[in-house]
Amino acid sequence: MDVASLIRVKRDNERPLTAEEIRWLFRAQATGDVADEQMAALLMAIYFNGLDGAELRAWTGAMIASGDRLDLDLSDISGTGGTVCVPAVPDGEPVPDGERLTIGRGVPGGEPRPVPVDKHSTGGVGDKVSLVLAPLVASCGAMVPMLSGRGLGHTGGTLDKLESIPRFRADLDNSKIRQILRDVGVVIAAAGPGLVPADRRLYALRDVTGTVESIPLIASSIMSKKIAEGTRALVLDVKTGSGAFMRDEGKAIELARVMTALGAEHGVATRALVTRMDTPLGRAVGNAVEVTEAIAALRGEGPDDLMEVTYALARHMLDLAGLDADPREAIDSGRAYDTFRKMVRAQGGDPDAPLPEAEHRERVLPAPRDGWVTGLDALKIGTAAWRLGAGRARKEDPVSATAGVRCLVKPGDFVRRGQETVEIAADATTRSEYAIEALEGALALGDRPRPGTPLVVREIT
Ligand code: URA
Repeated sequence: MDVASLIRVKRDNERPLTAEEIRWLFRAQATGDVADEQMAALLMAIYFNGLDGAELRAWTGAMIASGDRLDLDLSDISGTGGTVCVPAVPDGEPVPDGERLTIGRGVPGGEPRPVPVDKHSTGGVGDKVSLVLAPLVASCGAMVPMLSGRGLGHTGGTLDKLESIPRFRADLDNSKIRQILRDVGVVIAAAGPGLVPADRRLYALRDVTGTVESIPLIASSIMSKKIAEGTRALVLDVKTGSGAFMRDEGKAIELARVMTALGAEHGVATRALVTRMDTPLGRAVGNAVEVTEAIAALRGEGPDDLMEVTYALARHMLDLAGLDADPREAIDSGRAYDTFRKMVRAQGGDPDAPLPEAEHRERVLPAPRDGWVTGLDALKIGTAAWRLGAGRARKEDPVSATAGVRCLVKPGDFVRRGQETVEIAADATTRSEYAIEALEGALALGDRPRPGTPLVVREIT
C-alpha cells in the first residue's frame, strides 16, 4: 500500500477504502510515514467525497486504536446509578450485529454495574450547559466522567471556563479521575495526551486546511474521544444556527444521526438533541462570567434558555443511567449546587473564592431605533468575546479569565433608540475596537415581538 494511491482512490471516488487500508494509514501516520501534506490531501478528498458507513466505522476504530482507552473500572462502586448490560467489546472494535448495548435492569447475559453517562456539545456561544448539567445529573446518582476540551475559535471551552476558578485543576491523571468519580460522582477534566492522539494531529491539519466542516470527520473526531474515555452512555448536544459549526439544521440532524449510530456500533448508548444556537445561551459569554452565570443557575436563578437546554439534556442522561429523578428538584433542593462545590474542591479549586473581574468595561452597540429585539447574533457575539481575549486563535494561546461579553438585552425585549445592548469586558482597552467591529449588525430589531420557539428542534434516540 502507498499513501498516494489511497489519496487517488478517495479523490476520484473510485471505491470505498477498505478497513485494512484505513488501519494501515493510521499506523503509517503514527510512525511518521505519512507526510502532513498527504494527510491534508486525503482529508480534503474526504471533505468532498465523504466516507460510507463501513469506512466511517473503520476510520473511527483506527482513531480509537491510535491511543489508550480510559479504564473507568467502576465495578466496585455500588448504590449509584442504574445498571447497564453490555456485551464484551474488544478495545476500539465495533459491537457485533445483533449484540447492541442494552440499558436496564436484569437483561440476561448482561453485567450489572453503575452507568457512566456523559454529555458532549458540538460547541456554541455562551454554552455553559456542562457546568450546570454535569453536577446536576451526578447529584441524582449518576456517574459523570466528563473529559472536555479547551475552546478554539469563537466557541468557548468548558475547561477554560472552569480554570477561571482560583486553583481549579483540569489536568488530572487517571487514578485521580477515578478517585473523584468515586467520591463525588462527577469530574470535568482534560483528555490526557494518550487519548486518541490521531485526533490531535488530524484536527490541527483540518483547522488550517478548511476541512473541519465535514460530517464524517466531525463525527469520528468527537465519537472516537467519547468512546475511548470509557463512557457507556452519552447524550450529544448538536448545535445548529449562526453560532454553530453546522449552521444548516438538516446537516446538524444528519450529523446527530451519524454520531448516534457510531456510538451504538461501539457499545455506547447514544442519544442526540439538535438545539438552536442563533443567540448566545444566557447572557454571559466568556470564562469567569459564564461560571458566575452557571453558579446562579445551580442556585435556581438560571436564565430560561439555559435551563430549557439543560433540563432537556438532563432528562435523557438520567433516563440512560436508569435513574428516575426530577432535574428541577435537584436544582430547587440545592443538591446540584452542593455537588458542583464538591467537584470544584476535589479538583483543587476554591468554590468560595471570588472570581476574577475585568479592569475595563464598556457598554456598546446602541439600538439604532426603538423596537423589539428579534435577534442577537451568536457568531458575532462569540467573535467579539474571542477578540477580547476570552478565546484562542491557536491551541497554544493563553485565554483571559475575565474578558467577555454580557448581553444586556435578549430577543423578546423592547429597546429604546440609543440604549446600549451589550457590555464588553477586557483586561486592556486596546482590544475593544476589534470586538466592537465584530458586533456590527449583531442586533436585529422588529416592530413587534417575535414569538419564542423551542430550542430543542430534534431528539434522536
Ligand atoms: N469538536 C471536535 O472534537 N471535533 C470536531 O471535528 C469538531 C468539534
